[in-house]
Amino acid sequence: MTVLTAPAVLAGCLAAALSAGAAFADNSLVGFPEDHAEGLHYGTVERGNITEELYTDREAIEAAKRGEPFPSGTVITLVDYRGGDLHRYVVMEKRDGWGALSPAGTGAGDWLFREFAADGTPNPAEDGTRCMSCHRPQARQDFVFTVDRMKSVE
Ligand code: HEC
Repeated sequence: MTVLTAPAVLAGCLAAALSAGAAFADNSLVGFPEDHAEGLHYGTVERGNITEELYTDREAIEAAKRGEPFPSGTVITLVDYRGGDLHRYVVMEKRDGWGALSPAGTGAGDWLFREFAADGTPNPAEDGTRCMSCHRPQARQDFVFTVDRMKSVE
């Protein structure tokens, strides 16, 4: 019986690990962007009752203008307002070597993604996999959608 049950136990463990997100990158490396408000506001996206304010730093803007990949250490913060109220923060951060933390095919370059509630607490249900799958088609501009807005910053 042991021979028959061992694979079943292993399969169960694997399913549990997958459902817990353990097979994916540890996005807890991305901290709350305390300094986003002092960062450089480079754009606003409005869609229905959603308003998104976009922040990064001067080095990232200069890289975008030169058409180069973003430097290691870049943090981009999107502050999401719904009906005028602060709803959440979504953050992407790039560090040399972070790409190796995502299993092949699930990542987005050296970026990790994390979501924070309006009070700054991280959303534990969001490991960044969904974020990365939607940003991955932007690979030719280093996985960032709003590069054109960065280029138009003075
Ligand atoms: C369904 C596709 C989709 C998903 C899922 C998604 N994003 Fe985005 N993201 C976008 C688009 C499109 C933009 C450009 C702004 C806009 O049009 O709202 C964007 C913009 C951003 C930006 C500003 C930099 C940029 O790329 O322009 C950040 C930061 C960001 N997203 C983080 C996240 C995080 C963190 C998650 C997961 C919690 C996430 N995104 C999930 C589509 C997505």
